[in-house]
Amino acid sequence: MLSPEVAHDVTLASLRVAERLGMLRLMAGSPVSDPVEVMGLKFPNRVGLAAGMDKQGNTVDAFGELGFGFVEVGTLTPRPQPGNASPRLFRCIPQQAIINHMGMNNPGIDRGVENLSMRRRFRGVLGVNISKNKVTPNDEARIDYLACLRAVWEVVDYVTINFSCPNVPGVCELAKAETAADLLAALKSEQANLSQETGRYVPIVMKVSPDTSEQQIHELAHVFLDCQLDGLICTNTTISRTGVEDHPSAAEKGGLSGAPLYNRANETLEAFAADLHGSIPIIGVGGITSAQQAVEKLRLGASLVQLYTGFIYKGPALVRECAQALRQAAMESHS
Ligand SMILES: Cc1cc2nc3c(=O)[nH]c(=O)nc-3n(C[C@H](O)[C@H](O)[C@H](O)COP(=O)(O)O)c2cc1C
Repeated sequence: MLSPEVAHDVTLASLRVAERLGMLRLMAGSPVSDPVEVMGLKFPNRVGLAAGMDKQGNTVDAFGELGFGFVEVGTLTPRPQPGNASPRLFRCIPQQAIINHMGMNNPGIDRGVENLSMRRRFRGVLGVNISKNKVTPNDEARIDYLACLRAVWEVVDYVTINFSCPNVPGVCELAKAETAADLLAALKSEQANLSQETGRYVPIVMKVSPDTSEQQIHELAHVFLDCQLDGLICTNTTISRTGVEDHPSAAEKGGLSGAPLYNRANETLEAFAADLHGSIPIIGVGGITSAQQAVEKLRLGASLVQLYTGFIYKGPALVRECAQALRQAAMESHS
């Protein structure tokens, strides 16, 4: 049997071929149309692909054909990095969960940007998720994030700051309120410079951890409001093992995603939504395996949702089901 990581690579390669042959459009039909404006961007529907699936930026068109309204590529770092030693991806099938400690393996920002500029025909919204290299010390992290922001500016619709990955030492420490405030201030200042230079505004989104304490949520929300952050993604994977305790892979290092993350991600989403009072749009991600769960994220304060693990287990049908249910829920809430 293929290892989960090889299966992932083979699947993405097959998707690219199927997309080029026009087979995905035939299989998936046209994407659900539910146009919505968030962060000043026009999303064709409310369902996105979360970061980590397309780390190269070479499969975006295929995911678009599968019905995603937006796709987030990455995480990309300034220089290429191999990530952690394998095996580093574990499926907990009965729990519909994944444990990964990939460690942000990626081809580097320049290759990612090259792939996106050469290949992208996708008409939905494109995000790129960026972070610092593993070898970059935290007190130089901002140099890495700024370099990535500049590098992707021309090819993306929004940029996500990953400071919540549990699989690279030190990254989560950047989420201490004071450190996050410095980082975000530097990014917002560069965003203003780049907007002026290019005449184009690219929203900045921060992706938070579900392991953020209540106190830290209050502090971070304050920072986000103060710095006029454009958007928030709730959440990344968790270091908790609640829900997979009995699985043989439970002792593996890394972040847990999928069904067991759902409640914890929702609590984080709800807490941020309460503190942000609707001033900063939220993208809800974590544990969605059904349309009803996607709708619940909207009820808790999200404007959009992203899928990862649920999409692995349920396949493309989940994208359509979620997009249709969210369209219905949004219509009902406006009537
Ligand atoms: C194998 C794997 C790799 C991931 N890689 C990244 C990454 O590079 N950057 C990132 O911000 N999130 C990454 N994530 C987290 C997802 O984007 C998402 O936030 C998380 O899995 C929760 O959603 P889910 O329960 O629907 O999977 C990864 C998740 C998985 C399972």
